[in-house]
Amino acid sequence: MQDEIARTQTVVKDKYGELARQVSCGSNSGCCGSNAAHTLGADAICANLYDGQELSGLPEQAVLASLGCGNPTALAQLQPGQIVLDLGSGGGIDVLLSARRVGPTGKAYGLDMTEDMLELARANQQKSGMTNVEFLRGEIENIPLPDNSVDVIISNCVINLSADKDRVLAEAYRVLKPGGMLAVSDVVCRGSVPAEIRRHVELWIGCVAGALHEDDYQKKLEQAGFVEVSIEPTRVYQAEDARGLMEASGLVLDQAVLDQVGGKFYSGFVRARKP
Ligand SMILES: C[S@@+](CC[C@H](N)C(=O)[O-])C[C@H]1O[C@@H](n2cnc3c(N)ncnc32)[C@H](O)[C@@H]1O
Repeated sequence: MQDEIARTQTVVKDKYGELARQVSCGSNSGCCGSNAAHTLGADAICANLYDGQELSGLPEQAVLASLGCGNPTALAQLQPGQIVLDLGSGGGIDVLLSARRVGPTGKAYGLDMTEDMLELARANQQKSGMTNVEFLRGEIENIPLPDNSVDVIISNCVINLSADKDRVLAEAYRVLKPGGMLAVSDVVCRGSVPAEIRRHVELWIGCVAGALHEDDYQKKLEQAGFVEVSIEPTRVYQAEDARGLMEASGLVLDQAVLDQVGGKFYSGFVRARKP
């Protein structure tokens, strides 16, 4: 299991590090920063998640680096003064949006294991001028924060990337204060998914192959100790939507396999409370 976790993390770090560098090159070399979701072939998942008003005033490269599958900050009902933690914070878009919502008496932490993403996120924080923000280096399987220290955990399209989801959920539970909320956007599946899809690392990186079945997600959250678990679909994907991911990674799958994927994957808003 440890080997599998390490292997998965290496592949994920390489890919997301490359995407962060492509977005960052705009600020360092004068070339245009590219849209990370488009480069990954994940437009169907990542496009149009935020409204324009929300994004106004955010650094352009935080928006270009956005690789989420929902808008957890809009759904999490954040309050002034709260401590928020974003698992897998990427270029920092949801951390900056959370920091605005919790205000100067609150704080937003971002946690990511990919050095280039952290560098990009810290540059975005500096451009934003926000001071109630801190980006931490580390793994979501080993959260570098004390027990009972966070009011709300958000995450945007990251838990599906972990090879040890039980550990992630146990860690989330540990750092949440009693009464704290988990409010996460993630890709989830329903029905049976062909083994052919699960096998491809490109589809794992693209947030599809590692997606939990909705029943397993619910069970794992309850096993970790969470209560009031709910999973609400926000965007359902059809076979055609998988094509962008495959084309971007040079993957060719049988149309018959693809047809079995239609309607089986969705972006969902996952909520749970630590009692
Ligand atoms: C799909 S991107 C999402 C980024 C961000 N949440 C957003 O909405 O733009 C996944 C991010 O999670 C990070 N990540 C993936 N697995 C991780 C892990 N096990 N521990 C820490 N960070 C991880 C990657 O480095 C990457 O920045």
